[in-house]
Amino acid sequence: MEISANTQAIAYLISAILFILALKGLTHPASARRGNYLGMAGMAIAILATLFSQEVQSYGFILVGVIAGAVIGTVLAARVQMTAMPQLVAALHSFVGMAAVLVAIGTYLNHDAAGTLNPVMMGELSAGIIIGAITFSGSVVAFAKLQGLVSGAPVKFKGQHALNAAIAITTVLLGVHFGMTGSMTSLVLITLLSFVLGFTLIIPIGGADMPVIISMLNSYSGWAAAATGFTLGNLLLIIVGALVGFSGAILSFIMCRAMNRSIINVVFGGFGSESDGAPSAVGVAAEKGVKSASVEDAIYWMEDANKVIIVPGYGMAVAQAQHALKEVLELLEERDVTVKFAIHPVAGRMPGHMNVLLAEADIPYDHVLEMDEINPEFPTSDVTLVVGANDVVNPAARSDSSSPIYGMPILDAAKSKQVYFLKRSMNPGYSGVDNLLFYQDNTSLIFGDAKDTIEGMVTALKGGGH
Ligand code: TAP
Repeated sequence: MEISANTQAIAYLISAILFILALKGLTHPASARRGNYLGMAGMAIAILATLFSQEVQSYGFILVGVIAGAVIGTVLAARVQMTAMPQLVAALHSFVGMAAVLVAIGTYLNHDAAGTLNPVMMGELSAGIIIGAITFSGSVVAFAKLQGLVSGAPVKFKGQHALNAAIAITTVLLGVHFGMTGSMTSLVLITLLSFVLGFTLIIPIGGADMPVIISMLNSYSGWAAAATGFTLGNLLLIIVGALVGFSGAILSFIMCRAMNRSIINVVFGGFGSESDGAPSAVGVAAEKGVKSASVEDAIYWMEDANKVIIVPGYGMAVAQAQHALKEVLELLEERDVTVKFAIHPVAGRMPGHMNVLLAEADIPYDHVLEMDEINPEFPTSDVTLVVGANDVVNPAARSDSSSPIYGMPILDAAKSKQVYFLKRSMNPGYSGVDNLLFYQDNTSLIFGDAKDTIEGMVTALKGGGH
């Protein structure tokens, strides 16, 4: 069955509208599921309209690709842990980048053989190759850092920025040469240099800035897809690429603002690299000692509280404590305690990580507040339960200018009457810095896996507490 070019254009238009509605749906947890369905419908229509177009000459290779891709994708998606999602996303971006490079090279070879190359096309091809190759090797480095295959520490050396600038300028000049001459040598050099540039751009970036980099690479992968769209003359690919490109760029900007980083500093530098050498407050605080508490201690205060704020973090995801937390919420509400969840924009390991987990546990959205909304409420909360969070409540971000998280806005848990941290050890969080809040008079640590501790709270609350 073949469809006409007009029918295909209409199908692509419907897909594009569905993708835009999908993005709109994904802006809120309540509508995210619907957004996903709309996106899937849009993609199904796009694939069918492409498969039945007049340009398809044989289905053999397509079928092999679709089956291999579907099997690999399904196995990966079914097996991936929520906490390993960022590296899966990085790996997927690398595929988009590589696809853009291969499509551009294939198109060049076809048109070169047919003698139909022209400067505009060669400009598109070099853009596709440069963006695609940077996306590919940058995403591979990001994947390796997040997966722990290489150290997440920033790799820096003297003259790094100059080297990057030199590679970038040479690549662009070669791109111009290629556009004017169609030289195969220039094309190969552009490809190789762009791979190197993706690598050298990402290695100086420290682990803490990785989320921003992942969303920037997401943006690049969109532009790579758009470039492929130009190469193939496929309007839908151009639209979708631009949607991904812009939404990734906006997300990177929002995340930078949440971490008080300048995007330029993230792209060309390392997290917290500008330290003014002020004396560290951490060392002073460490001498003060830390109080540990039991589940019963916390329940004693929580049962009679007016307001309890729960701050979830990465450890809640590791422990999968969200369902037990839902039970705590219900048991406390039965006792007329107001319970709210405080979400820091970079809590966990990916944007919206906490929202997704709390939604999965059916915690009502009106109980889940963003940082700006909840911060004024901490001074009136009786108990704050910090469940596997650490960096996002660390006052060192405000007071210790030598700390790598200095300048990051934080949740004001410190202002609560009582603070209980649920964690397994005295280990620091993602940024590797000690938490000054541990040493505050009203803070206690309940050691253990967060899920076990929360389940202990559920049992204590069901048993009538103290
Ligand atoms: P973190 O500061 O990383 O702290 C997580 C805490 O969870 C640790 O103190 C750890 O202590 C505890 N923990 C781990 N497993 C646990 C378990 N099974 N039970 C109980 N506690 C457990 O987390 P956060 O406060 O959510 O901050 C996020 C950090 O990650 C920020 O620095 C952010 O910049 C960075 N980051 C964010 C993202 C995004 S986009 N959200 C992506 C990458 C990195 P123990 O080991 O002692 O248990």
